[in-house]
Amino acid sequence: MDEEALSNLRILVLGASSAAAILFVAARPGASPAKASLSAERKVEQVEKNIKVLNGTPQAQLFPTMRFMSASLGISCDYCHVVKDSNVDFASDEKESKRVARDMIKMTMLANKTTFAGKPEISCFTCHQGQVTPKNLPGLPVPHLDAARAATTLSPSPTPALPPADAIFNKYSVAIGADAAAGKIHSCAVRGSVANASGSTGTYEAGQVIPGKVYETIITSRGTNARVINHNRAWEKTPYEIHPLEGLQLKDTSLTLPLSATIGLRGEYVKAETTKMDQINDRQTYVVTATRGDGKRERLYFDAENSLLLRRVSNTNTVIGVIQEETDYEDYREIGGVKLPTTIRVATVDSLNPTSTRKLESIELNVPIDDAKFAPPIADK
Ligand code: HEC
Ligand code: HEC
Repeated sequence: MDEEALSNLRILVLGASSAAAILFVAARPGASPAKASLSAERKVEQVEKNIKVLNGTPQAQLFPTMRFMSASLGISCDYCHVVKDSNVDFASDEKESKRVARDMIKMTMLANKTTFAGKPEISCFTCHQGQVTPKNLPGLPVPHLDAARAATTLSPSPTPALPPADAIFNKYSVAIGADAAAGKIHSCAVRGSVANASGSTGTYEAGQVIPGKVYETIITSRGTNARVINHNRAWEKTPYEIHPLEGLQLKDTSLTLPLSATIGLRGEYVKAETTKMDQINDRQTYVVTATRGDGKRERLYFDAENSLLLRRVSNTNTVIGVIQEETDYEDYREIGGVKLPTTIRVATVDSLNPTSTRKLESIELNVPIDDAKFAPPIADK
């Protein structure tokens, strides 16, 4: 879900270690923005030219899936896709590795279906662990398993009693002042900066009018990425195309916006349960597993002491594995009686840009936002 990943959809930086890193841009036809609507979630085979095994996968999952396969093997897109005249021909089956990858996808799908009752337990990473050729033998000498030590590590540790999820949400609401703010906050305008692990930096701007209207614009040297939700219509703009935001992508986008993931947090989930304690840096946290209205499950990490939300992990189940996305919230500051995070770091399965950090320099509540900001994005030039 980060904007840099979106711009990487069609840019491959090849040979980053060689003297000249070359940019390859693959121009492919995008969907017509005029037809953008929430009703139809496009499948990969409806958009792409040469899909033989991923049929039925939502188009929105194609690039995350490709990045997941790349990261699982420690390779970039050109390992499987052929590059011609500085363009990547994604549809071509010229490379043997792409054909092998198809068999691997089929094997992974079959293993999950037949052995794991349809649950996405096996993924490319299960075997590959970041390498092209998986190890299938333990190295010799094998690690010496000390019988006495093995026994002690198995001794059960006492599990502390965990507070119920509702109590955790309530404490969080009090901690950030959400209850006091309820009904009083109608809009929010945010400005700041973005720094990507890939090295690019830029400006960040977002606005939200409750209910139903949000926009987010990120401008880097790579171009403009934007997302707009206007009630039942939504779009995403990358430097190369504009397409509708579909299915799970919609809630995913809404949850990246300042008011949804904070004062509106509880309302994003229909079910929640405290599952364990975990540590983030030096902070103890309660982990709440929460189910969204659209069925997606997320893990929320609340600081056990000050009750603030420190992390949100969102998993997307795909046929080749579970794709994780992690958002960290830091530097909470009080704005108009509400405490909001001002540093937000998103980590995605994207070897070309593993993290993207937003610093919110200005957050204004209840300011008017020009309605034109919620109009469908317009292509550059
Ligand atoms: C391990 C091999 C592998 C890697 C790495 C890989 N792909 Fe793919 N890609 C495939 C296979 C296999 C298909 C076809 C899937 C099918 O037939 O259902 C495909 C299909 C595609 C398609 C659809 C092409 C069409 O028109 O049918 C696009 C677009 C694509 N990949 C983009 C990428 C991008 C971007 C990356 C890098 C982030 C990438 N791929 C990395 C194996 C790979
Ligand atoms: C059950 C284990 C397992 C899983 C799961 C698995 N692979 Fe593999 N894969 C292998 C093994 C083993 C090899 C090496 C075969 C060989 O050397 O002949 C391999 C080889 C490959 C190769 C060829 C590499 C080369 O030598 O160029 C590609 C590409 C590949 N896998 C992609 C994938 C993708 C993509 C996925 C997930 C959809 C995946 N694999 C899932 C075990 C696995």
